[in-house]
Amino acid sequence: MEFGKLCSWEKQGNRVVFQFEKRTGRVEILTPEIFNVFSGVVSEEHRSKAIEGDKSVAVDFTAAEADGAVEISTDAVTARIYDDFKVDFYKADGTVLCRDYRGSRKICAGLSDELKALKEAEGHSVEEQRTEAVEVVKQLEGDEAFYGLGDKTGFMDKRGYEYVMWNTDDPAPQMDNFKSLYKSIPFFITLHKNAVFGLFYDNTYRSCFDMGKESEEYYWYGAADGNLDYYLIAGESMPEVLGNYTYLTGTVPVPQKWTLGYHQCRWSYMSEEEIRDVVSHMRECGIPCDAIHLDIDYMDHYKVFTWTPDKERYPDPEKMIADLAKDGIKIVTIIDPGVKLEEGYSVYDKGVENGYFATTPEGEIYVNAVWPGDAVYPDFGKKEVRDWWGENQQFLVDKGVRGVWNDMNEPASFRGELPQDVVFTDEDEKSDHARMHNVYGHNMAKATYEGLKQRDGRRPFVITRACYAGSQKYSTAWTGDNHSIWAHLQMAIPQLCNLGMSGMSFVGTDVGGFGSDCTKELMCRWVEVGCFSPLFRNHSAIGTRYQEPWRFDQETVDIYRKAAQLRYHLIPYYYDLFFTGEKTGLPIMRSLVLHYEKDEVAKECNTEFLAGPNLLAAPVVTQGDRKKMVYLPAGTWYDYWTGEKISGDQGQWILRDAPLDTCPLYVKAGAVLPVWPEQNYVGEKDTNQVLMLEVYPGEGSWDHFQDDGESFAYRDGVYNQYHCELKDGKLTVACVHDGYEKHYQRVQVHCLGKTFEAELKDGACCVEL
Ligand code: GLC
Repeated sequence: MEFGKLCSWEKQGNRVVFQFEKRTGRVEILTPEIFNVFSGVVSEEHRSKAIEGDKSVAVDFTAAEADGAVEISTDAVTARIYDDFKVDFYKADGTVLCRDYRGSRKICAGLSDELKALKEAEGHSVEEQRTEAVEVVKQLEGDEAFYGLGDKTGFMDKRGYEYVMWNTDDPAPQMDNFKSLYKSIPFFITLHKNAVFGLFYDNTYRSCFDMGKESEEYYWYGAADGNLDYYLIAGESMPEVLGNYTYLTGTVPVPQKWTLGYHQCRWSYMSEEEIRDVVSHMRECGIPCDAIHLDIDYMDHYKVFTWTPDKERYPDPEKMIADLAKDGIKIVTIIDPGVKLEEGYSVYDKGVENGYFATTPEGEIYVNAVWPGDAVYPDFGKKEVRDWWGENQQFLVDKGVRGVWNDMNEPASFRGELPQDVVFTDEDEKSDHARMHNVYGHNMAKATYEGLKQRDGRRPFVITRACYAGSQKYSTAWTGDNHSIWAHLQMAIPQLCNLGMSGMSFVGTDVGGFGSDCTKELMCRWVEVGCFSPLFRNHSAIGTRYQEPWRFDQETVDIYRKAAQLRYHLIPYYYDLFFTGEKTGLPIMRSLVLHYEKDEVAKECNTEFLAGPNLLAAPVVTQGDRKKMVYLPAGTWYDYWTGEKISGDQGQWILRDAPLDTCPLYVKAGAVLPVWPEQNYVGEKDTNQVLMLEVYPGEGSWDHFQDDGESFAYRDGVYNQYHCELKDGKLTVACVHDGYEKHYQRVQVHCLGKTFEAELKDGACCVEL
């Protein structure tokens, strides 16, 4: 976009509007730390799919001319706006956050090769491309590391790479050089030596993020079309920046507690008999399990919202689901967006009758192919269509299904990608695939979430493959079709941590790998990572080696049980992380850099992660390794398995034995971990009597939450909050919010091999350790 010289400017409420020679632009101050830079064509109502509602607060700011610029300051950030709508941002103390680049980009067409090809195909000349490109070029100050960008391959730090935001279903094994995957989250956090900030580029068109690939002097992001519309998000630390980003785009709602258990899946369990067999094995092996997922074959000819009429395979689905529920097993079913083109099939007929499907520019229903063969695409950008999709969930709710897995919602298409001009709707406005593609999965997940919320009433459990920024409000996500290869186990750590840095904290990979054949050793190592990932699901593709743990050998079963039991042991800790996460936006699985941003090793650490603030997992992700080089940031840590204390004023590397059954795990001094006794599934035992805590000497505190674990009542205060404080060898517990009818009666404290018990009187007690 070309702006030219700045002619005039004026303050309008919390906006400063700039008139340049060629266009207008504006800077909006949403909070002292969030500034929006905007110039564009898409109307206000259709501007953002990620941000819902007005997020601006009353902010004290000044705007005045100074040194050839207009300077806007809050008590946290100063923005300087120059000719050509160049914008520079500083912290209040003058430290540079980011500045627009003043030189010329090397690639004169103004776009990446990929965007250029697209524009050429659309008949735009190079000159037009240069003036139309919606791009922002920021100067590299020298020491930036970049995190986030949603679901991308490769390592934590994205510096030096280029990515494309275009939700993509590419079945080839994902490698570091993949530019796009299923999700588009155009947000990244930049870490300098002296500052940190986030940039959120809210544009749903195909966009490019070059994080210093093209040049050592600048990084840039640009889209094929749409608005110049980005948010500078400041904060004193990475958690604060993430907090501000999720203030804008939303946080993950507290999930139902059982969803934090173990999920078993396969494409496909073909019959009731097979499902019951899987469940019996789980129980016989003593491997806790809460959910079985049904892939596409439970349907009648892959028609969504149907169940196969084949009585040999499924004599009575409702009864099966009800029976399994008695054994603690919940059923989750897959639902794809593609609706089979078949007259007489009610979902198709209803959609046709009401104009719910995307069309060609000529107005014919657009047809491509997915699992059912010829299929049509619901136009989820329209509220009416989302409501209709929500109503369709009734079919599943009536059967007793407890979660819905939304797949293929990039949207995937077997007969080539949907043309850019396929007609989709953006709420009440006619739009196209080019603009709505990246939010197709987002809108589908939203429709599913709202539909389940209205019909089932409990906190909806939705899993999606495709996403946009803000999808965290509606859905969990998994990383799609990985393979049973070591490279993908290694990738899982940075991939899930970067999703967490992008607001998506309820995420997981297919444990064991989806495509290709899993080996015993890979299975064991994968479950040692999977048991810490927020969404813990084993899934594998048709035709590959079965990868339920007993398909290997007894040793695998024992190792798998150990990992899964550890997960169930930690569910109360995980649940607390979700409870506070709904307020703070902090993820569950965290890169070390999130808490140790001044630590140079943490900045580039790809083989370890934190689970919440207090656990550090250093899994083995290389075939054959039986020892692990573990990096421990400065401070005191305890080896979870041996209780050994390791202290350091500085970060240190240690060599830890890591036999096949062990994932090196460390606990921070001062940690208070709420834990559970062994269970086969969430809720098998009454865990509301005794509050079990594992504590590690030092100073620290923890807030633990007790509620019904499934309804939205917690939002009306129906929960108990126990504040635990560890100091001077004493643990005090106090109920600081009393809103839920069930209360713990006793506290059982485990501290380095010793056990202490105390009664809770009025929710309080003090234990001398
Ligand atoms: C897609 C999904 C995968 C699923 C398969 C069949 O490949 O990513 O998880 O099993 O479709 O539905």
